[in-house]
Amino acid sequence: MNQDYIKPDNWSIIEEGFDRESVKSSESLFSIGNGAMGQRANFEENYSGETFQGSYIAGIYYPDKTKVGWWKNGYPKYFAKVLNAPNWIGINIEINGEDFDLNSCTEVKNFRRELNMKEGWYHRSFQATLKNGTEVAVDIRRFLSLDLDEVGVINYEITPLNKDAKIIYKPYIDAGVTNEDANWEEKFWEPLDVKKSGNEAFVTAQTFKTHFKVTTFMQNTIWARGEKQNLSPTSVDTIADKILFYYDVIVAKGEKSGIQKIGGYTVSLNHADTISAAENIIQTALAKGYDQLLQDQIDAWAKIWEMSDITIDGDVKAQQGIRFNIFQLNQTYLGKDSRLNIGPKGFTGEKYGGSTYWDTEAYCIPFYMATKDQQVARNLLTYRYNQLDKAIENAKDNLGFTNGAALYPMVTMNGEECHNEWEITHEEIHRNGAIAFAIYNYYRFTGDYSYIPEKGLEVLIGIARFWHQRASFSANKNQYMILGVTGPNEYENNINNNFYTNYIAKWCIDYAYEQIQKVSLEYPSDHKRIMEKVKLSETELQEWNKVAGNMYFPRSEEMGIYLQQDGFLDKDLVRVKDLDRSQRPINQKWSWDRVLRSPYIKQADVLQCFYFFEDHFAKDELERNFDFYESFTVHESSLSPCVHSIQAALLDKMDMAYAFYLRTSRLDLDDYNKEVEEGCHITSMAGTWMSIVEGFGGMRVKNDALHFSPKIPKEWGGYSFKINFRNQILKIAVDHKETKLSLEGTKELTVYVNGAPVLVQPNN
Ligand code: BGC
Repeated sequence: MNQDYIKPDNWSIIEEGFDRESVKSSESLFSIGNGAMGQRANFEENYSGETFQGSYIAGIYYPDKTKVGWWKNGYPKYFAKVLNAPNWIGINIEINGEDFDLNSCTEVKNFRRELNMKEGWYHRSFQATLKNGTEVAVDIRRFLSLDLDEVGVINYEITPLNKDAKIIYKPYIDAGVTNEDANWEEKFWEPLDVKKSGNEAFVTAQTFKTHFKVTTFMQNTIWARGEKQNLSPTSVDTIADKILFYYDVIVAKGEKSGIQKIGGYTVSLNHADTISAAENIIQTALAKGYDQLLQDQIDAWAKIWEMSDITIDGDVKAQQGIRFNIFQLNQTYLGKDSRLNIGPKGFTGEKYGGSTYWDTEAYCIPFYMATKDQQVARNLLTYRYNQLDKAIENAKDNLGFTNGAALYPMVTMNGEECHNEWEITHEEIHRNGAIAFAIYNYYRFTGDYSYIPEKGLEVLIGIARFWHQRASFSANKNQYMILGVTGPNEYENNINNNFYTNYIAKWCIDYAYEQIQKVSLEYPSDHKRIMEKVKLSETELQEWNKVAGNMYFPRSEEMGIYLQQDGFLDKDLVRVKDLDRSQRPINQKWSWDRVLRSPYIKQADVLQCFYFFEDHFAKDELERNFDFYESFTVHESSLSPCVHSIQAALLDKMDMAYAFYLRTSRLDLDDYNKEVEEGCHITSMAGTWMSIVEGFGGMRVKNDALHFSPKIPKEWGGYSFKINFRNQILKIAVDHKETKLSLEGTKELTVYVNGAPVLVQPNN
């Protein structure tokens, strides 16, 4: 059973009715973020029920020492964690002498949450009766400013309904926070300083080990009788890592009072003096005032939607799903800062540590490339370029490679490997391939070749060197093998010749080789600079080519399919449809060895190869492989349904494509994997975008031109999306009769629809 309490709505995520059971799930779904920070939708006031507190700052992490049963040589030393950051949203409230806590109220009615995706704010309202009999109506709006991205704003209003009330607002900052997933139950924050001035407070704390300094700040304004009160705190509690202000107000029955709290973080990544930076940002925010800050927020989101919205007619759930995905991606990463990247859970939970995975290159880059300025995708590529030395060190120190071979980490914050399962960090080496593929993909889409001579080629060379050294020669088969790996399907470990890995390894070497030749001809001075640095000889290149030209690919000629790995067909091939539903998800129901022995596939693996290299294979070959592998895939990774959706659309299996689309777009809203309380699946949301644009829209870039082969699910009246293609904005609208194209730009553009050229003139 999936959850179904989220109300269908075109622009908002709405929950109605107070249900203690869904508080943690809603905290994930109603999360807000602005690229620089983000937080779960925790209540501002004290809540004694089940809750998962989370507030996160981009780029602020802690290396949590690895915990394993039995240590083996080469284990990564730590798992990096995005830190649960000091809490600035907290406002404890006392009403007529009683602590206000929804968990202990005798009645809560008309409870409603709304995450307004169009305008970028989160709202909560309800009526509650306290144990002391006081009935109150409460209305709260909160947002994290896109324009002033160190600032968040809360407007908290209370109206006593049945009697006068003495209300004590107790806004606070608490740096005594911990991570739920801490390995050793350690604290990650060391308090340094607590400071107050009038209605403002500043708590400065530093992370242990990584020494990021963060000032968490708040500024409070009390409202009553329709106007701002000139109130200072009646008293203040200060302890080492916490500060709490008290504001007393007497409110007549039926009259509204409230507190506006400005809060947020200034961090040492951006400021030498975080306290004075916090003082300044408070002044800037106060000068604008709440109404202007909110208007700026609405305007900033309007700009984002103007470019990135996808409309779907006649299917509210599908519409809500795609907008939720696009909204969350923009809350997580806006591409302003090339030190940052996209964590699989964004700012909605602790899992995956907020670190960078292959998800960025394999899934997210197409979304950012097509809906933002191309500099954003370039920043994401530059992030890896800046970590090349660490990737070389990683291959050398951890795996004994030489000569500048680079193995990028599976999971990273700063270029070092920071995941602590050997079968992932040492074996899931295919991630190197996605990093090279993204360089190719960026050039294919943007036409900006300059990245390759400037930066990309060095990355391609390091990666090609890795594959060359990682392959081993089998005298038996007279071919090169890649042994002992984990492919994208993490339900197999330590396998030999994962087709996807072998294929992308060969491709990486070939592609690096071609780019070396191209740069040598077209950018001779860059070529000279790079060759002096990497010292690549003709002999080494010949060695690379030997490996790439003679790579082994496991295959069944009889079935006309590639094998996910050596021996795959020897498994007990019971299809997913014949597996009892009660056994799923298998990763929660079965022991790990049973998962490993089974034929079940966590996520697209062979099919991921067909997705990246679609034009290397014939359509009937895709169909055979799709039909075979789809029948064993359990989609227990969020990254899986989108690839299957795109391929099902290509193969005209529209019902299946639609079902996968709904699954990917509503994975969190409907909690398919029964884990949304841990946070949302942000990186797979870019896959949802792909399943409309590349799946139903059929968008591909071939020979510098956009191609579409539009299809439409029968459930929809029509859909539309926009693509920034080489600095011109193309809008595509598809319905059951036709495909309409329009262009915001300066020069005409030829695009191909179902193979036929269409000349699109700019609108203005
Ligand atoms: C998937 C990986 C992915 C990671 C983070 C895992 O469940 O198997 O492919 O990189 O999640 O999204």
